[in-house]
Amino acid sequence: MTQATAPGSTPQPRMTNAEFRTATLADLVGIAAIEIEAFGEHAYPYHVLRTLFDLHGMDWLVVEEDGDVVGYVQVAVTLGQRAWLVGFALTAGSRGRGYGRVLLGMALDRCRDGSARRVFITVRPTNDTANRLYEDAGFVLAGHYDDYYGENEPRNLLVCDLTR
Ligand SMILES: CC(C)(COP(=O)(O)OP(=O)(O)OC[C@H]1O[C@@H](n2cnc3c(N)ncnc32)[C@H](O)[C@@H]1OP(=O)(O)O)[C@@H](O)C(=O)NCCC(=O)NCCS
Repeated sequence: MTQATAPGSTPQPRMTNAEFRTATLADLVGIAAIEIEAFGEHAYPYHVLRTLFDLHGMDWLVVEEDGDVVGYVQVAVTLGQRAWLVGFALTAGSRGRGYGRVLLGMALDRCRDGSARRVFITVRPTNDTANRLYEDAGFVLAGHYDDYYGENEPRNLLVCDLTR
């Protein structure tokens, strides 16, 4: 477990009572609740989350405050030296404190540890906070899809080249 710190070159959060660690199955209910708060109808249903966890949970990361999971990033390292960040969110009350930046840095470290060379993520074009964060981390635009999650649900596909 990491008390208010993160490994490698990832920056430090602005709050000090946060703990960053690998997710466990016991975190899944909390992750599901944050999913619904952050993504509403686009949240993964619990059974999909459970399946994703079975496939990739060993690489998921969470941040805890006072024993409660307040944020997560779902890392999926795949074949072809690729990885995807398939979910990333914090509770509304925990945003803007630097946790997202730390989680993203830790997630990219996990992808490197899994020998990924390229990391992909989709993001709503109007999501300024997330877009700025990804740009800072080295993600660039790889494609745009007007109906990625169905009609009128545009997403940008971003990629981060870990070999640079
Ligand atoms: C996107 C998200 C995960 C970022 O996590 P966070 O902890 O709030 O972000 P941080 O506090 O680490 O801020 C990172 C950067 O985002 C930017 N940022 C933060 N809050 C912002 C705001 N309200 N408006 C614009 N930019 C903002 C800043 O550039 C900040 O950099 P700084 O550290 O130099 O100030 C979080 O806001 C969230 O859960 N949003 C809702 C779900 C979501 O959109 N997930 C991403 C889907 S692709």
